[in-house]
Amino acid sequence: MEAALLRVCGPLKRARLQPSWGLCAAAGGKVFRGPTLTLARRLNVQQAVDHWGQTFERSGIPEPILSSQYIIAHVLGAKTMESLGSRRLREMLTESQVRRIWELCDKRLSRMPVQYVIEEWDFRDITLRMRPPVFIPRPETEELVGLVLSAQLPAQGAGVTVLEVGCGSGAISLSLLQALPQLQVIAVDRSRDAVGLTRENAHRLGLQDRLEILHMDVFLDAEGLLRGWSPVDFLVSNPPYLFSEDLADLEPEVLEFEDTAALDGGADGLQVIQSILTLAPRLLKDGGEVYLEVEPRHPPMIQRYVEEDAAAGLRYLQTHSDVAVRQRFCVLRKGGAEQ
Ligand SMILES: C[S@@+](CC[C@H](N)C(=O)[O-])C[C@H]1O[C@@H](n2cnc3c(N)ncnc32)[C@H](O)[C@@H]1O
Repeated sequence: MEAALLRVCGPLKRARLQPSWGLCAAAGGKVFRGPTLTLARRLNVQQAVDHWGQTFERSGIPEPILSSQYIIAHVLGAKTMESLGSRRLREMLTESQVRRIWELCDKRLSRMPVQYVIEEWDFRDITLRMRPPVFIPRPETEELVGLVLSAQLPAQGAGVTVLEVGCGSGAISLSLLQALPQLQVIAVDRSRDAVGLTRENAHRLGLQDRLEILHMDVFLDAEGLLRGWSPVDFLVSNPPYLFSEDLADLEPEVLEFEDTAALDGGADGLQVIQSILTLAPRLLKDGGEVYLEVEPRHPPMIQRYVEEDAAAGLRYLQTHSDVAVRQRFCVLRKGGAEQ
């Protein structure tokens, strides 16, 4: 599986802390505690960051320094340490700040992902509430949104409807709505937690009026989806796509905190993808397109599946790579004519 991916996006924006698909880190089972609260009362901001960075590192917590920085910046009302400025780093922490930092860093010591610890995360231009077990959006999904936005769309998305299968926290649907002020989106998820969090995020961002959120399983409720909500112009999904046998190798952050049903795509990772491809010709308008985020082994499998006519009416258009040059995105179109 892939290694953790970190990319710094500038001092005021959070770095891309990957909740990590990576293999288990060697924690050695030993959890090192930070300085006692009594000692911590005499710490300034930078000293607290250093203490927790070292404590996380000794305990085998992935991305120890960033974890410490994000949690402490959050407690101080900022997104990054850089945005606090160097003078603030030398200021002594108050007693209530120390208590809050210790409480949140203890959660991180239990391997809870930072995104759940601080209960929010940035995705493209929006900040989303995060809550377990709803899937934490990964950095490459920002690229999927970029691909959809690079499609030929009417100005501001006027008259265009997107259907997202598996909306999770709402990252894809809400960032599309944010970018295109006249777009309409239908967001579907089988998880009640996901539907609730997407609704909460939509209201926080003021995007609820152009978003229909449906608690629906695309396997079980396909006919209802078709009857009530087709045809649409685009079908977008970051579905569960991991091969079941790979799940056991995931980090505790993923395995213990995120919904397994958001990750597990069955034996070949294609279970939900195939039902999306089967439904797509009936859900889409003629010329409508499917944008999928997948595992690097999937693009040739999906191309074969479509060419064998298993998803009659769909044509495989392109595979796109992510910034790490892994083949991660598939684009398909309904209808035979080139455009
Ligand atoms: C990998 S997560 C993606 C979440 C979000 N789109 C994102 O990129 O952060 C996959 C989502 O698909 C949902 N899901 C899985 N199977 C589904 C099904 N049969 N019908 C509808 N949603 C499903 C899961 O509950 C989960 O929220």
